[in-house]
Amino acid sequence: MRNLVGIEDLSREEIDGLISVAMDIYDNRGKYSEKCKGKILATLFFEPSTRTRLSFESAMLGLGGNVIGFSDASNSSTSKGETLADTITVVSGYSDIIAMRHPKDGSAYVATMHSSVPVINAGDGGHNHPTQTLLDLMTIRKELGRLDNFTIGLCGDLTFGRTVHSLATALSIYDNVNFIFISPKELKMPDYIKEMLTKKGISYTEVENLEENIDKLDVLYMTRVQRERFLNEEDYVRLKDVYILDKEKLKTAKKELCILHPLPRVNEISTEVDDDPRACYFRQAEYGRYMRMALILKLLEL
Ligand code: NCD
Repeated sequence: MRNLVGIEDLSREEIDGLISVAMDIYDNRGKYSEKCKGKILATLFFEPSTRTRLSFESAMLGLGGNVIGFSDASNSSTSKGETLADTITVVSGYSDIIAMRHPKDGSAYVATMHSSVPVINAGDGGHNHPTQTLLDLMTIRKELGRLDNFTIGLCGDLTFGRTVHSLATALSIYDNVNFIFISPKELKMPDYIKEMLTKKGISYTEVENLEENIDKLDVLYMTRVQRERFLNEEDYVRLKDVYILDKEKLKTAKKELCILHPLPRVNEISTEVDDDPRACYFRQAEYGRYMRMALILKLLEL
């Protein structure tokens, strides 16, 4: 039985295979509409979500399956003091596959130890978010046309943003991806990610200024400052608006730049950018549905 806890659970061949299936589903939805008939997905969301939970649910419904779950842990027995282990033991008896989001780093791994069905990590604290990465890769492949030989700028909260941890890990298995980490010094990429890159012989640069570096980029991945992971509100308020991408900042950017954001956006991208052809973030969110369909099919071995 396979789980998806971190993106490193998948090989490059498997990721490329998932992207191909997701693209085929995107083009031929009807072909897949009965594939999960009789199967049940449980979505257990101990943290807020719009895209991840709804795209998982929409994915399972689009495959002909059913969905159970909760989107607010205060309505579940967690509020009575039930442990994650017990919740997972019980829910795995009610479902065929579980997608779970939880505020604690490592919680998805703990869930796999108690589940009798595949567990998908839909975000564990500030740690990993592998399904977001799968759809990010699909978007880069579709919009830029390749997953090798390009320069990506990861910008914003690189300390607490789980999406950029998983994305940097995934791109480290492709060829000749050049990383520029753009963040204030308080929100730098964690050492364990930088050490992983160094061990693989991949170089990266760390800078603070977006405008001075935007012309070098083929992909710009903006992120939200993760308010919920800050220990004090003052630090959040000081750092929340350091990067606001607007038309002015895009003046020196490449014509084929691909602008991504996992969403939700707060202030990081001005709405005036939304009608720029380089703004890919809403298409990126849409691709999530097809990528999650491909992933459910793979983990259920259908
Ligand atoms: C991201 C997350 O939950 O980590 N959202 C998402 O899943 N698309 C990014 C964020 O919340 O900032």
